[in-house]
Amino acid sequence: MIFSHATFRGTGGVGDGAARGIGRAVAARLGAEGAAVALVDRDEAAVAAAAEEIGGLALTCDVTDRSTVDAAVAAVVARYGRLDVLVNNVGVSLGTPFEAIDAAAWQEQAGPTLHGAVGCVQAALPHLLAAPAGGSVVTIGSVNGLAAFGDIVYSAAKAGLQSLTQNLAVLYSRRELARRGSDSKGIRFNLVAPGTVRTAAWGERPASLDRLARQYPAGRVGEPEDIAAAVAFLASDDASWITGIVLPVDGGAMTGPLSFDDLVNDR
Ligand SMILES: NC(=O)c1ccc[n+]([C@@H]2O[C@H](COP(=O)([O-])OP(=O)(O)OC[C@H]3O[C@@H](n4cnc5c(N)ncnc54)[C@H](O)[C@@H]3O)[C@@H](O)[C@H]2O)c1
Repeated sequence: MIFSHATFRGTGGVGDGAARGIGRAVAARLGAEGAAVALVDRDEAAVAAAAEEIGGLALTCDVTDRSTVDAAVAAVVARYGRLDVLVNNVGVSLGTPFEAIDAAAWQEQAGPTLHGAVGCVQAALPHLLAAPAGGSVVTIGSVNGLAAFGDIVYSAAKAGLQSLTQNLAVLYSRRELARRGSDSKGIRFNLVAPGTVRTAAWGERPASLDRLARQYPAGRVGEPEDIAAAVAFLASDDASWITGIVLPVDGGAMTGPLSFDDLVNDR
């Protein structure tokens, strides 16, 4: 979660998995745009260090433990008085081979990735509904949820986030809420689907990143800041007429891996 609030173009919000990588870059970007930000992560020391460096409220929570999520949301509202933006960023990928997928594999990966986002939205819901300019939820999906890139449990969970985003975009739209007698401005739900991004998740595999870079029409892999820019736009009031979308931020990966030349010349 990255929940931030305040002068962020009239909104504010919170984000999880914010101690490093994409979540941290999102928190930094929202903060730079004037949001009051809460960085939330299960790694207490790392999230404290990140908040110290980029500013914002550091909170510890595990998105698979709803009571800690509720406590994080309460702490944000106690500090900032409101919560307008939620960024669901946690994703767990273990690359379990298809034949080895069992209930534990789903729990370990789809638990935080898919159900974790559900719990964060549920916890933040009353505050998002009360946001003066309307609430905004941006969830980090993956190109793995859009096409076959392997890693089936993770990918299926990411694909599930697309359906979640679309359904919630309608369920909590201003129109549907008005039908239920509420005068809330509603909540926008959007999903950003990154391609390969240079983060610690790639660990000791810089060579893989160099190789992957050659597959991208943009000629490079993504940086966390590339994703943060898209999240900041979708979270902001500039995107007030955008809801229920999936935005690949992927250096062109979804256009296909090969150039026309490669296909014609069998390279
Ligand atoms: N890096 C990529 O190439 C890439 C590509 C596509 C999508 N994504 C997605 O972007 C998101 C962020 O990825 P990243 O590469 O920045 O990851 P990362 O591993 O660098 O950071 C993830 C953070 O989430 C925290 N975290 C993990 N489980 C948690 C839990 N249960 N509760 C609270 N915090 C938890 C970790 O402590 C860590 O700080 C993920 O959803 C990932 O699936 C990443």
